[in-house]
Amino acid sequence: MSKNIVGFSRKTKEEKIEWLITTYFGGNKDAKQTLVSYWNSDDKLQQLHDEFIENTVSNFYLPLGVAPNFIINQKEYTIPMVIEESSVIAAAAKASKYWGIRGGFRTTVLGQEKIGQVHFMYTGAPEKLFSFFNSIEAQFHQDSASITKNMNARGGGISSLTLVDKTIELNNFYQIHVCFNTVDSMGANFINSCLEQFAKTLVREAATHVDLKGEEPIEIVMSILSNYVPNCLVRAEVRCTIDALEPEEGLTKREFAEKFVRAVEIARIEPHRAVTHNKGIMNGVDAVVLATGNDFRAVEAGIHAYASRTGQYRSLSTATITEDEFCFALEIPLAVGTVGGLTNLHPLVKWSMQLLGNPKASELMELIAVAGLAQNFGALRSLVTSGIQKGHMKMHLLNILNQLNADPSQKEAAVDHFKTTPVSFSAVTEFLKASNA
Ligand code: MEV
Repeated sequence: MSKNIVGFSRKTKEEKIEWLITTYFGGNKDAKQTLVSYWNSDDKLQQLHDEFIENTVSNFYLPLGVAPNFIINQKEYTIPMVIEESSVIAAAAKASKYWGIRGGFRTTVLGQEKIGQVHFMYTGAPEKLFSFFNSIEAQFHQDSASITKNMNARGGGISSLTLVDKTIELNNFYQIHVCFNTVDSMGANFINSCLEQFAKTLVREAATHVDLKGEEPIEIVMSILSNYVPNCLVRAEVRCTIDALEPEEGLTKREFAEKFVRAVEIARIEPHRAVTHNKGIMNGVDAVVLATGNDFRAVEAGIHAYASRTGQYRSLSTATITEDEFCFALEIPLAVGTVGGLTNLHPLVKWSMQLLGNPKASELMELIAVAGLAQNFGALRSLVTSGIQKGHMKMHLLNILNQLNADPSQKEAAVDHFKTTPVSFSAVTEFLKASNA
């Protein structure tokens, strides 16, 4: 039987589910019940979620947890994190405690510039295009005034419009490269609306301009924001004297610091390690980005591009020992918002924002960078001392127990037993078998 369907999006939610269950699950009622069991009992709330996207059939839960005790620029925070990986919040909470008694995290927003581009083709003389472009700059601002009015009133708007000749890389290819300040919003809709207006202005003005009329027309290819925002940058760091570091098993404090710095250096020069190293950073970054209703795909794409800015993919963090001081820092681009998008719509996003004291976008950038640095610290600290599996598997124990359908008393006994015994799937299976015997 063909699984092709026409007009799926026009069906009701009930009809869509019936079609799915009949076509893919052999009419199995349990398959339908699985979807239904994740619906919200509050119809209004469910409708809100249904309307976020097209073809919603259920909700997909991820845990929302919190990591308390963060001191960032002398201020206390409890950070909300949405993540499925069992050890991430525990690592964040451990790192916050570690650095909380060593002066806390310090952050600086180095820039908040967003970028968008109109990509177009033009076959005529470049000088004519440049002089035409300069002559219509005011027109770009005038034509987009209704879009930029509110943003200007909030202190943002268009910062610069530049014509870029890209014909060396691609025949006839030019761009209008536009920089924006979108204040507390991520700004995607604002930027794209401005760009589409610039494209219209460009084509309209070219048709009548003395230098360009009668030439091959400008062909707009596309107008879209860039998720690469190297000037929307935040830095987070921790520092303390080597003597103030915690004693680690089997290592002096200096040996630990040196091993830690070496681990970061390896991630700077070796891409395989760099990707995993940065993945650990993204464990913290994505979790806060998600909890605060921001676009984690945009953040991921932008950050990994930034990690490759030298032509090689490298560590996003750096670690140094200067005389007796250990410093660990992270610098990442982050285009996030605290107004607009899901931030005003999703009740748990609103809750998370409130937990953070309703931050401005710049403050949220700082908190996200700190979460990334904290994760990176936790991972490296384990990696260069006990190894990652000890802590990881301890946190994974409950997942294994749930997978093996352990009851509450077995779980309690297992958690106690595995405090002193290495966790593995087979060890937990054996433990349960013995407790059933
Ligand atoms: C696992 O989610 C993250 C780590 O692999 C990060 C790292 O290796 O630095 C532990």
